[in-house]
Amino acid sequence: MCGIIACAGVRRASEILYKGLCDLEYRGYDSAGISVRREDGIVTVKRAGRVSAIECARRLGGDAGIGHTRWATHGAPTDANAHPHNFGGFSVVHNGIIENYAQLKAELAARGDEFLSQTDSEVVAHLLAKYYRGDLKEAVIRTVRRLKGAFALCILHEEFGGFAAVKYRSPVIAGYGSGCFAASDMPALSGLADRVAVLKDGQIAFAGENGFTFCDFDGNAVSLTFSPLPPQLRSGGKAGFPHYMIKEINEIPAAIRQTAAAFEAEGCARAFAKLRRKKFSQVIVCGCGTAYHAALAAAYGGEELLGVPVRAETAGEYRYRRRRKLSGTLFVAVSQSGETADTVEAARAAKAAGARVIAVTNVPYSALTSVADVVVPVRAGAEICVAATKSYCGQCAALGLTFCALAGGRHYGRAKRALAEAAAMCADAISGCAAEDAARACASASAVYFIGRGADYPSALEGSLKLKEVSYIPGEGYPAGELKHGPIALIDGGTLTVAVITDPALAEKTASAVEQVCARGGRAAVVCAEGCETAGLRGRAEYFIAIPRSELFPAIVAAVPLQLIAYRTAVILGRDPDKPRNLAKSVTVE
Ligand code: AGP
Repeated sequence: MCGIIACAGVRRASEILYKGLCDLEYRGYDSAGISVRREDGIVTVKRAGRVSAIECARRLGGDAGIGHTRWATHGAPTDANAHPHNFGGFSVVHNGIIENYAQLKAELAARGDEFLSQTDSEVVAHLLAKYYRGDLKEAVIRTVRRLKGAFALCILHEEFGGFAAVKYRSPVIAGYGSGCFAASDMPALSGLADRVAVLKDGQIAFAGENGFTFCDFDGNAVSLTFSPLPPQLRSGGKAGFPHYMIKEINEIPAAIRQTAAAFEAEGCARAFAKLRRKKFSQVIVCGCGTAYHAALAAAYGGEELLGVPVRAETAGEYRYRRRRKLSGTLFVAVSQSGETADTVEAARAAKAAGARVIAVTNVPYSALTSVADVVVPVRAGAEICVAATKSYCGQCAALGLTFCALAGGRHYGRAKRALAEAAAMCADAISGCAAEDAARACASASAVYFIGRGADYPSALEGSLKLKEVSYIPGEGYPAGELKHGPIALIDGGTLTVAVITDPALAEKTASAVEQVCARGGRAAVVCAEGCETAGLRGRAEYFIAIPRSELFPAIVAAVPLQLIAYRTAVILGRDPDKPRNLAKSVTVE
């Protein structure tokens, strides 16, 4: 979604804010803006485009300020709709959605206020001005009590030396370092703050000369505990790689190993042994986008392992489904960010219906963790590229460990060994993968279809999503058996079909789908695990990518060539794989 940042008690606030916005840019890159407080008042620079469009703002100076990078929801990406929004001595940045903005706008317009943007956020500056009678705290409290929806706000006022930050259903982290800071996530605070505190819903921070004070929406003082910024949440930059995407693909083996180590260190196996004794009758695994594909991959093996029905659901559908009581249900919510609105709300709905909720997430302080009964850590480290890569493999690893720990007996030990092997296989696949030729074929194709059977179907879906989001080439992922029931009508010489084959028992079946594609003049590439090559397959497919075979974690190893193909295709086509058009890393709106 959007990224917000604020600082106070610093020299050259504008430099700090600009750098912070560069770190937050993956949350949205439609427009950017900075306001700083100087002796001559509040000065604002904002523009449509990427953060680099406000490079000149670095020289504004100031001892306090706020900044914003936007993923447009209300109003096109224009200069006027860029944040901050200023009115009556206030300057405001917002992440989230003010659901009752139209009603508030009408009320404020009726008393003569003029609005300069089409955003929902501008009403906040107007409400603050309306309620300000010389007491900032009172104005902020009266304002936030009028708002419905989700809002993380940073607020500057011309008569106040610091800033205020508000948290309600969108994240705000406060930090102390060589000044006071607040931001949408921890990586943006690395290098600025050494101690951080996560605000809860309904809390307000005021950063002034003497540091932070906190209160709730009723004005009651609250105290927050600051702790050191976790090292895994520091963003390490591109480390010599041309893009975050390829850097993060290279970090897959580490993500798997660290996830397995954290599962052990945080006592997840013990927690699941207890849960097992309580008995459960079904498991629902839920997420959006790539996280849903990890859920689906886990569900394929899960049913046999656990002996109860296991199904995967997309969170956006699940949250609005009428449901029976869910006592005896384990609801596993999967989310890299832990912020995705649909996933968090689906978990809340499942919990309200009586399910036990397990959160599988890469962000330990996220909203999802506060809903969960058990948190399973993914330790992929900060993922900056908008397209999920290492976090997907980390999610598959964490889900596999979860299911094996729930199954009990020898399964958990077996999963740990298989993951150590899968991490080594990924390292081999990264260094030895022949993705380049297949990527060239993708780059010149009119459409690219991905097919797989059984556990390879989620891999086909994920391969297709990855290619679409970074290259913009149309395509779909299909179960290989479905191809002949309709999609085969799309096959012609301009299309490429990528088949994923990692299960020897199903290899012949998927190979025959490849035959059907080739018989209609379509081009084919095969990602094939050791021991799955069928007679003549290498000759039929134009591109043959061999990968090692992991029996327990086929989706993890298959992800490597699929991600590399997507990355190389984007680069060949001159796309920015780290910041695909129209996307944002965390989708905190419905
Ligand atoms: C992944 O490449 C996508 N950018 C997207 O599908 C993502 O996985 C989805 O929005 C869910 O995000 P989450 O894992 O943070 O909940």
